[in-house]
Amino acid sequence: MAGRTGRIYRIAGPLVVATDIPTPMMYEVVYVGEEGLIGEVISVRGDKAYIQVYEETTGLTVGERVEATGELLSAELGPGLIGSIYDGLQRPEVEIARSLNDIFIRRGVRVNSLNRNTKWIYAVDEKIRVGDKVGPGDVIGLVQETPIVTHKVMIPPGVSGVLKWRAGDGEYTVEDVVAVVESGERRYEVKLYHKWPVRVPRPFKDKLPPAEPLLTGIRVIDVMFPIAKGGKAAVPGGFGTGKTVLLQSLAKWSYADIAIFVGCGERGNEMADALKSFIQLHDVRRNRPMMERSIFIANTSNMPVAARETSVLLGVTIGEYFRDMGYDVLLVADSTSRWAEAMREISGRMEEMPGEEGYPAYLASKLAEFYERAGRVSALGRPERTGSVTILGAVSPPGGDFSEPVVRNTLRYVQALYALDYDLATRRHFPAINWLMSYSLYVDYVKDYMNERSAGRWEETRSMFLKILQREAELLDIVRLVGPEALPEEDKLTLEVARMIREGFLQQYAYDPNDAFSPLEKSFLIMEAIRRFHETALKLIRSNVPLFKIRELKSPYMVYRLKLYAPHEVGKVYDEYVKTLDEEAGRLMEGVRQ
Ligand SMILES: Nc1ncnc2c1ncn2[C@@H]1O[C@H](COP(=O)(O)OP(=O)(O)OP(=O)(O)O)[C@@H](O)[C@H]1O
Ligand SMILES: [Mg+2]
Repeated sequence: MAGRTGRIYRIAGPLVVATDIPTPMMYEVVYVGEEGLIGEVISVRGDKAYIQVYEETTGLTVGERVEATGELLSAELGPGLIGSIYDGLQRPEVEIARSLNDIFIRRGVRVNSLNRNTKWIYAVDEKIRVGDKVGPGDVIGLVQETPIVTHKVMIPPGVSGVLKWRAGDGEYTVEDVVAVVESGERRYEVKLYHKWPVRVPRPFKDKLPPAEPLLTGIRVIDVMFPIAKGGKAAVPGGFGTGKTVLLQSLAKWSYADIAIFVGCGERGNEMADALKSFIQLHDVRRNRPMMERSIFIANTSNMPVAARETSVLLGVTIGEYFRDMGYDVLLVADSTSRWAEAMREISGRMEEMPGEEGYPAYLASKLAEFYERAGRVSALGRPERTGSVTILGAVSPPGGDFSEPVVRNTLRYVQALYALDYDLATRRHFPAINWLMSYSLYVDYVKDYMNERSAGRWEETRSMFLKILQREAELLDIVRLVGPEALPEEDKLTLEVARMIREGFLQQYAYDPNDAFSPLEKSFLIMEAIRRFHETALKLIRSNVPLFKIRELKSPYMVYRLKLYAPHEVGKVYDEYVKTLDEEAGRLMEGVRQ
């Protein structure tokens, strides 16, 4: 393979056409020009190789050399990933945190993704011994990567044989050999890291049903439209509807073991803000810095467009790697539209036949391949482990139009939709998830889990909430025509309870320390408080108590305030509420009887 070189024939922005490369392979990595810019062959036509270049191509000239490597674009997977900030080519960006607006990576510089000098404390897993047969995924040792993440050192996919030798407990760099596996003539040295091609999904034993919710601390998601571990969801929303805030909240608060934030083509200053808030944040459940379980991949709008694709693929590859260790990983991508736009640009430069709105015909299959890598699996190797990758992708349709190609194609492959609504955002209803348009196909899968934790109430109350909200939309149409006074008392109550659901439950202020994160117990208490109010008020109204009297009570006001209490206080306040509601209702009933 050595010495396969060609020449630049044509340069069109991020696309370079090379000629004379002997048998170029699809997706092989090439070094373009004297500076050796990193690119990937994305099409071969005759003697021409079409290369998408992941670095700025200005200054390249026709005739410069192109060197084919015979290798696929790969990620380095090993200790040191957690807490890292990478660009789309997995180059660590120490500088990114400091000044994201002004990222300057020298072109053509090849750097190691994982630090080669860090010594990791490695502890042998005694269950596997020298002389044993080993195969992909077998855990041979552990590295405490951060105080909350134990990195499992696994036999890489594709490697099996007899464990011939292993290193003892000690301190090793990622390059040190910690085990030797032999199979016939083949000898493989296991290190703390290995490389894996980002376009190839990592293998696993079995795909498992998405039976457990990935709790997020966001009520409208957890209770109304749950996402499962290993699930895939789209978050489409027009300009400024809260996509970034929502994805960041998810990465911060969800019960995932590892959170991966892929910033794809979005503004650099937003990415910098996200990083800053992550660096300051503490994981409430473990009281450790959030960065100890997070990874950032930053490919901002001022970076070369082609690397948007690699940033998404890098993110999901790292996600699968931690899944294979038995962790629940959450990957959020903001925004997949920018990736699609990069596809459109490169396809246009290749003069391919454009599909809808200029996007290439393969837009759908690329999106499918990406979302297909989500899932809950039983991992390869011993000991048995279950892990998952959950993917949420933001989509930014121009003008908030959900019928455009990226939204429409994404919806073919995801199982949950969080539709962000411009009107709600304007009314400051956040998260601006439209309850009439959104859905989750995981509801049936997580039913048992949710009912068990809500004294059997979840399913029923959730449907009741949805019904009330739907009815509200119909009633509001009528009110617009004839005014609110024309409605019967029961319908007026429906409007009242709908408002309570919206303002007391669905709305969640991301910047309020008590409200930003709502554990399931707290969410269920608020849900139950509303259900009780509805039930009690309905009884009163049917006993001819007028609604205005119920409105004057203290108890409904208490429901609105429940979310503002810290999780550990809510139980007590809820009990007070129940007492107050019963007393107040009792008094009103007395009143009508007399
Ligand atoms: N959950 C929330 N709680 C409070 N405020 C919010 C919430 N979500 C969004 N906002 C407000 O809406 C603003 C816009 O949100 P955000 O930047 O997430 O939108 P976006 O959809 O990512 O926009 P863009 O299309 O520009 O990427 C935020 O700056 C914030 O003021
Ligand atoms: Mg945004």
